[in-house]
Amino acid sequence: MAQSGELILPDVAATERFGRQCAAALLAARPARLVVYLEGDLGAGKTSLVRGLLAGLGYTGRVPSPTYTLVEPYAVAGYRVQHVDLYRLRDPREVEDLGLLEQLGDGTIGLIEWPGQGEGQLPGADLHLRLEMAGGGRRLAWAAASPAGEALGRQLARTVPGDPALSPVPGSA
Ligand SMILES: Nc1ncnc2c1ncn2[C@@H]1O[C@H](COP(=O)(O)OP(=O)(O)OP(=O)(O)O)[C@@H](O)[C@H]1O
Ligand SMILES: [Mg+2]
Repeated sequence: MAQSGELILPDVAATERFGRQCAAALLAARPARLVVYLEGDLGAGKTSLVRGLLAGLGYTGRVPSPTYTLVEPYAVAGYRVQHVDLYRLRDPREVEDLGLLEQLGDGTIGLIEWPGQGEGQLPGADLHLRLEMAGGGRRLAWAAASPAGEALGRQLARTVPGDPALSPVPGSA
């Protein structure tokens, strides 16, 4: 089975819900390290998804957008989580100044908004999440891109279809 899927997320609660499903899949698959690229336009819901994911991992504090700090670190569920937003980067080479590569080793989860801004300077993605506007809600596409991502994708493919809060895009697998 292809490790990918598409969903309609009618409201922000559904976006956070999908984030929680990602967290459950992550806790079940327990990769040594995971890098997630969060793609989509301004306001697509990337940070909202991260809020659900962190909540699902057990984090109970505030989750500000890293728009200005570029990186917001968390320690949760035995992982160091780096929530990154590269929107304000002027040049991909600035990734090196952030020390991101060193911060995304074993024991870490990298959640990277606007990865295109760091093109060529970032570790490859294990999982791609893309959000698009769809009427008043959002359409989400996910795709695994490595063995670690596929292990997580297998969990998502098992749990998401049974979640009444999440509906598949008609006609998609
Ligand atoms: N499925 C959804 N349906 C409708 N609104 C949503 C949905 N998911 C998130 N939103 C709303 O979209 C707005 C922007 O969300 P968010 O900040 O998460 O976007 P973002 O992709 O991180 O944007 P940026 O690129 O600026 O960081 C918020 O008001 C949020 O409540
Ligand atoms: Mg954001």
